[in-house]
Amino acid sequence: MLVRDIYRLPVGAPFEGYFVIEHVEIRKHRTGEPFLRLVLSDKTGTFQALWWKPPKDADLTVFKKGDVVFVRGNVEYFNGNLQPKLSEIRVAEEGEYNPKKFISESRFSIEKQFTKLLEIIETVENVYLKKLLEGFFYDEEFVEKFLRAPGGKTIHHACIGGLLEHTLGVTEICETVAKRYRSLDRDLLITAAILHDIGKVYEYSVETSIDRTKEGILLGHLYMSCEMVAFKIAEINGFPEDLKTKLIHCILAHHGQYEHGSPKKPKTLEAVALAYADALDSKVKGFEEFIERELGGGTGWTKRHFAYEVPIYFDGKIDYGEEE
Ligand SMILES: [Fe+2]
Ligand SMILES: [Fe+2]
Repeated sequence: MLVRDIYRLPVGAPFEGYFVIEHVEIRKHRTGEPFLRLVLSDKTGTFQALWWKPPKDADLTVFKKGDVVFVRGNVEYFNGNLQPKLSEIRVAEEGEYNPKKFISESRFSIEKQFTKLLEIIETVENVYLKKLLEGFFYDEEFVEKFLRAPGGKTIHHACIGGLLEHTLGVTEICETVAKRYRSLDRDLLITAAILHDIGKVYEYSVETSIDRTKEGILLGHLYMSCEMVAFKIAEINGFPEDLKTKLIHCILAHHGQYEHGSPKKPKTLEAVALAYADALDSKVKGFEEFIERELGGGTGWTKRHFAYEVPIYFDGKIDYGEEE
C-alpha cells in the first residue's frame, strides 16, 4: 500500500506496506518503557508513526534511517496529522519489495528529454562552449549519473531524472529569453543553463531515498558545478579566460541572492537571465509537486507550503506527462 492510499482510508482502517525510514528515534513513556517514533515515506508521501508498545525483548536499535521496513497498523490521527500506532514493524529483506516504490521517476521520458538536450547543444555555435558541453554530454560515465540524478531532495524535481527535467526546463526558458533579448550572448546563456546544476550529480545520492552526500553538504552544488566546469575547461586548448570567467559567474550567481546560497549576485545579462529562469522552473515545478502530494489528484487549497510559506490553490488537472 502507498502512503497516498493510507491518507484516503477512514480512521481505524487497517493498513500494511513497505516504507523507508526517514527519521527514527527511541523515546520513553512516563513509565520508562521505550517506544519508537518514526517518519516513514515512499514516493507518494510521508507520515509519522509510533511503535507504541514494542514487545519487552524487542531491539529498537536495529531500525536505521534509510532502512526499508514492513509495517502494519490502523489509521489514526493526532492534531490533524496522520500518526498511526504500529502493531508490527520489521526491517525488510532486499527482494521482498519493489525499490521503484520509494523514489519516483521523472514523468517525462528520460530518453526523449535527453535527445532534446543534445539537440540544443548542437545549436551552440561558439566552438569552445560546444566542446565543453560535448565534453560532459558525450562522456558515458557522466551521462549515466546525470540521467539518474534528482533535481533536489524535497522542494522541486525530487525524483530520478529530475535534474535532466529541470535542466531542460531552464534551458528552454533561456532559449526563449535569448530570442526576446538580443543583447544577450545566447551561446553563453544556453551553456550556463545546461551546466548550472551539474554538481547535483555528486550532491545527492539516490538509493531507497534521496540524500545529500558529504560533499554535497560540505561544498554544495554551486561550487561543485564550477569546479567540474573549470576542470573540463582546463582540458580544452585555448579556451578564452574571459569566457570562462563569465560562464563561472553565471553558475555562481544562479541562486540570485546571498541568502539562497549564491556567493555572487548576478552582474551580467546572462547571469540575471539564468537566475530568473532557474527560479521560474524550480518554483512552478515545486508548486506543482506540492499540489500533487497534498491534494492527491483533487482540487482546492493545500496546507501552507513549508518553504514558500503560503497555501496553494488549484482547481485544474495535474499534467502526468505522456505514457512511455
Ligand atoms: Fe542550483
Ligand atoms: Fe537549478
